[in-house]
Amino acid sequence: MSQVHIYDHPLIQHKLSIIRDKNTSVKEFRELVSEIASLMCYEATRDLQTEVIDVETPIGPAKARHLSGKKLAVVPILRAGLGMVDGILKLVPSAKVGHIGLFRDPKTLEPVKYYCKMPNDIANRDVLVLDPMLATGGSASAAITFIKEYGCRHIKLLNLIGAPEGIARMQQDHPDVDIYIAAVDEKLNDHGYIVPGLGDAGDRIFGTK
Ligand code: PRP
Ligand code: URA
Repeated sequence: MSQVHIYDHPLIQHKLSIIRDKNTSVKEFRELVSEIASLMCYEATRDLQTEVIDVETPIGPAKARHLSGKKLAVVPILRAGLGMVDGILKLVPSAKVGHIGLFRDPKTLEPVKYYCKMPNDIANRDVLVLDPMLATGGSASAAITFIKEYGCRHIKLLNLIGAPEGIARMQQDHPDVDIYIAAVDEKLNDHGYIVPGLGDAGDRIFGTK
């Protein structure tokens, strides 16, 4: 069974309270999604491997740790996942970026794939999949199934807000993928929106409604 890491950090919860507010502007929403992604990245990368190296400080020799394990790739689920990319790349600037375009069919709520481009060496990288919303879990599950077809084995999912239904779906379909999430809300409504959630994340990031 995968682990669900829920962020109770005050900074994350404070920023989340602002993006939930329907009166928050597109500009502020976008900035805060990116900031929350940075804060989440900090914790989600806690298990990265390091090795001890020798460096020369202005005062003298020192032992220091630098990253030594597999390199990272981030894969946003389009569109809304794009809003989290810059926040992650601020902390991990050498990560490569793959893209998966999925939209939910409004009637069936099933994900429909329309785009995919992955780094050539993605199989050799640890992968962070990004999407602000985990509703039914259909999009995240389909994206991760697809990423696994490239040979990726170490995958984490980063979301801002999820519903219990999405968590259950992910744990059933991908028990090997840990979920890093800022809040798990009450339920889904009849249209598959998270209640209370924050509305349509893609529309709020890109100002399309
Ligand atoms: C949203 C969201 C997720 C998906 C979550 O994308 O960004 O990808 O819905 O729902 P699910 O867990 O039920 O699959 P949407 O389909 O609205 O596309 P968009 O990002 O292009 O707006
Ligand atoms: N997609 C969103 O953007 N918001 C939801 O609440 C559910 C799916």
